[in-house]
Amino acid sequence: MPHIRLHPRKSDAAQAVAKEVADLIRLRSKSGLKTVLGLATGATPLPLYAELIRLHRETGLSFRDVVTFNLDEYAGLPPTDPHSYRYFMEENLFRLIDIPPSATHVPDGLSQDFQKTCAAYEEAIRLAGGIDLQILGIGRTGHVGFNEPPSAADTRTRHVRLDEMTRRDNSVFFGNQEAVPHGALTMGVGTILEARRIELLAFGSGKAEIIRRACHESPNADCPATWLQRHPHCTFHLDPDSGTLV
Ligand code: F6R
Repeated sequence: MPHIRLHPRKSDAAQAVAKEVADLIRLRSKSGLKTVLGLATGATPLPLYAELIRLHRETGLSFRDVVTFNLDEYAGLPPTDPHSYRYFMEENLFRLIDIPPSATHVPDGLSQDFQKTCAAYEEAIRLAGGIDLQILGIGRTGHVGFNEPPSAADTRTRHVRLDEMTRRDNSVFFGNQEAVPHGALTMGVGTILEARRIELLAFGSGKAEIIRRACHESPNADCPATWLQRHPHCTFHLDPDSGTLV
């Protein structure tokens, strides 16, 4: 079972995770070490990113010693497309903190050779020393990153087809479902499980059932988030609505 933290409100969850991130960055910076963060996009991490920006502005938290790797990117979208995850990260975090642009990594959705691009992404994570702390959301299909069912525990960064439920859920950002790409590049479940610490956030009643499955089903490829049960340092941060069935 992952460790479950039920927070009174999603803002409390965001503050708690932001504090964990900030404490880790400060501790490692003091010893001259970089901190490697794995980052997610979507609606869920927005209050976390807002809190990190506030800590940067109001308490001097610096991201100069931080390296980031995002979980995923839509296939076929250029970084300048407002729906791309690179654009999302620039708008909602990177341009608002002092992280060096060269230290931020998002898979290249425009790659003409997905296999090569994905292998290079894995290698870049390895060369950076591995991910110290991974932020995750969860999709209603049970995906983490874009590891749609079925996804095995040993999957690596690769090109995937998005589940129709995911395309429907993400159509809120695109205006209509037809505009949502059919494919994406995503870190694999195996890549995610190698992070030294995982903080998953889930908010709202729409996530209650998948959180129940992720916590109580035995690990299986049809609900990829169940693989997180095998991680020794994984915490689920829930609000009262997403935590009703745990
Ligand atoms: C995003 C990602 C996805 C989302 C998930 C939940 O980078 O990897 O797994 O975390 O689809 O999305 P929201 O937060 O919009 O409900």
